[in-house]
Amino acid sequence: MFDDVEFIKSAHESDQYPRHMFPEVAFSGRSNVGKSSLINMLLGRKKLARISSTPGRTRSINFFRVDDRFCLVDLPGYGYARVPEEEKDRWAFLIEDYLHHRRNLRGIVQIVDARHEPSEDDILMMDWLMAADLDFIVAATKCDKLNRSQQNIQKEMIARELGIDECIVVLTSATEGYGKKRLTTFIKELLG
Ligand code: GTP
Ligand code: MG
Repeated sequence: MFDDVEFIKSAHESDQYPRHMFPEVAFSGRSNVGKSSLINMLLGRKKLARISSTPGRTRSINFFRVDDRFCLVDLPGYGYARVPEEEKDRWAFLIEDYLHHRRNLRGIVQIVDARHEPSEDDILMMDWLMAADLDFIVAATKCDKLNRSQQNIQKEMIARELGIDECIVVLTSATEGYGKKRLTTFIKELLG
């Protein structure tokens, strides 16, 4: 689906963003929710974006160029309790600065854990997304850990808690590849 994929760079501040005209689709969500894993799944590369069992793996904004057409952007996670306040503030600033000011940004894949209720931060993020003029889709991930009926119950609950239509919630799994087609279609439509 996506053929030529290349890691471009890691940015710790906006000065370090790549200077290009490519539209960008960013992956956002709580720490350890599975943002980097979902990017790897979508791009069909196991180790492109770094993942780890320790939350807080992605500490900078990582840009991946796809088919010389667009970029997928791996953001650090928010809401991880066990990092020093200073580091937390730095990540929050990094994420907000990107979301508010990056002109290349076209859309967001907002990721939540299919097993849990969305956090306060997830709800804040969703409210912001709805107010901003950005296309987004919600990926409820790690759903390989739920059976079919649990998946449907959780999908409905997540949509209700986030105040969105159920049809923009996609059940995904980075390990099983669920949701790949739907996310790919979302990205392709977004880019026209
Ligand atoms: P930060 O960069 O720390 O914010 O984390 P992240 O959101 O990028 O999560 P990451 O992709 O690093 O995954 C965190 C952990 O969840 C890893 O141990 C992954 O193997 C696991 N994981 C991610 N996606 C899935 C999934 O769909 N199913 C299962 N079973 N595990 C997953
Ligand atoms: Mg990550």
